[in-house]
Amino acid sequence: MNAALTPPLDMVIFGGAGDLAWRKLLPALYMAHLHERLPGDCRIVGVGRHDWSREDYVAFIDKTSRPHVDAEALKATAWTSFLERLDFVSLDATVADGYQRLNASCRPGATKVFYLATAPSLFTDICRHLDDAGLIDADARVVLEKPLGHDLPSAQAINEAVARHFQERQIYRIDHYLGKETVQNLMVLRFGNAILEPLWRAPTIKSVQITVAETVGVGTRAGFYDHTGAMRDMVQNHLLQLLCIVAMEAPISLDPDDVRDEKLKVLRSLRKFELADVLRDTVRGQYGAGVVDGKPAQGYLEEADVPALSQTETFVAIKAQINNIRWAGVPFFLRTGKRMQKRQSEIIIEFSDPPFSIFADQAASAHPNRLIITLQPEESIRLQMMAKEPGSGMKMRPVFLNLDLQSAFTERRAEAYERLLIDVIKGRLTHFMRRDELEAAWRWADPILNGWKQLNDRPKTYPAGSWGPAASSALVAREDAVWFEAQ
Ligand code: BG6
Repeated sequence: MNAALTPPLDMVIFGGAGDLAWRKLLPALYMAHLHERLPGDCRIVGVGRHDWSREDYVAFIDKTSRPHVDAEALKATAWTSFLERLDFVSLDATVADGYQRLNASCRPGATKVFYLATAPSLFTDICRHLDDAGLIDADARVVLEKPLGHDLPSAQAINEAVARHFQERQIYRIDHYLGKETVQNLMVLRFGNAILEPLWRAPTIKSVQITVAETVGVGTRAGFYDHTGAMRDMVQNHLLQLLCIVAMEAPISLDPDDVRDEKLKVLRSLRKFELADVLRDTVRGQYGAGVVDGKPAQGYLEEADVPALSQTETFVAIKAQINNIRWAGVPFFLRTGKRMQKRQSEIIIEFSDPPFSIFADQAASAHPNRLIITLQPEESIRLQMMAKEPGSGMKMRPVFLNLDLQSAFTERRAEAYERLLIDVIKGRLTHFMRRDELEAAWRWADPILNGWKQLNDRPKTYPAGSWGPAASSALVAREDAVWFEAQ
C-alpha cells in the first residue's frame, strides 16, 4: 500500500484482551503484517478494563497470541515488528471518561476502525461514547461481532443504536464463514461455470444438505454458549449464509448491495415455521458422554459452568424450504453440532435420479449424482458419478470426478479473519451482512426458537462422537434422503 496516498490507520479493538482478540484477531493481523498486507502505519490499539500499560499489553499478546500463529509463519523479526504496532488504552466501555484518552491516543487524520469484540450489550454504550468523544468521522468504520442479538427485537435494537452513530456503509457485521476461501469459492463455482446454471434448480436438484460438524465441545465457553445454543450460535448465521450462497440468483455485479440484495431475497423466501413444522421438521440434540477421536469425552451437562439441568441444544437439524420458482419442493437440510464424529463442513447437492433406468437389475448399486463441496477440514469439490465396473456384464459403481484444488493452487490461503480484516481496511463490504439481511435471518429463526419453547422441547441426547440423535436421520429419511456421512 502506498503510505503517501493513504491516511494512517488506527485499528481499535474493544475487548482487546478477550478470547477472540488474542485467539483470532491478533494472529490474523500478524499474518497480514507478515505478508505485507497491513498498511505500513497501521496501529492496533487494544482497549479493555485492565489497568495495563502498553508494555503489559504487548507482553500479554506475546504470551497468548503467539501459540495461535502457525509455527512456520512465526518469524522472530516479523513478530517483533508486529508487536511494535500495538498500543493499549485502559477504559471501562460504559463510562465516558476513558474515551477522551482513547481519542488522544488516536492519530489526527487517521482512519479509525473500531472492532467491537465485546458482548453486544455494550455496543450501544460504546457507539454513543465514541460519538460524544468526537471519534467518529465519515471515514470511521465499526466491525460488529456476532451474536448480533438473541432474537429479532434485540437485533433491531442493536442495529438501531449503532445506526444513530454510523451510517450503514460504515458498519461491518462479521460472519467469519463469509471470509472462508471455500465459501467465497462457491460464488465462482456457481457463477463462473456455465454448465452448472441450467442444472442448479428443482427438479434437477432433489435436495441440498449443509452440514457443519465440529468435534470440539463447549470448552470454556459455557457462560456464553449455555444461553445461546447451536441455533443462535451457528444456524441463524453461518448455516443460513451458506444456504444463501447456494440458493441465490446471480447478482448483477459483485458490488456489496447487489450481492446482499440477492441473499436477502433468499432469506425472505424461506418458508416460515408454524408450530407443526417445528415439531415435524426440526431436531434439537445435546451431547452426552462418548468417545471423540478415540478419547473419552464428557457430556454437555458435565462440562464446566453448565447448569445441571441445562436444556441448551448443542445440535440442530432442520428441513428448510425456499418458496420460489427455482427451489420449490427441494428440501434444504441443515445440520450442525458439537462433539460430532468428525470435523466436517460440507454442502451436498443431490441430483434427481434418471427418469428411467435401463439398469433395473442394478437398482441396489445405483447412487444419485452428488456434488460434494467440502469446506473443512480440507477444501475439495467432487462430483459423484456412476461408472461401469471393469469386466464382463454391466455392473455399476460410484466414482468421483475430483477437482484437485490443493494441487491446482499453490498460493497461500489466508484465514477467514485475516481476509475480512483486510476487507474492512480496504472498505469492501461484500462479505459482510447488511442490516436487513441480519433481521431477515432472525425473522426465520425466531419462530423455531419460540416453537421449541412453546412445545417445551427437550433436546435429545446423542453420544459424543456420533452424528447426532437418531431423529436427525429420520428427518431426512422422510424425504427419501440420507445424511451423506451416515452411509
Ligand atoms: C463460531 C461459533 O462462530 O464458529 C463457535 O461461535 C464455533 O461455537 C465456530 O465453534 C466454528 O468456526 P470454524 O471456523 O471453526 O468452523
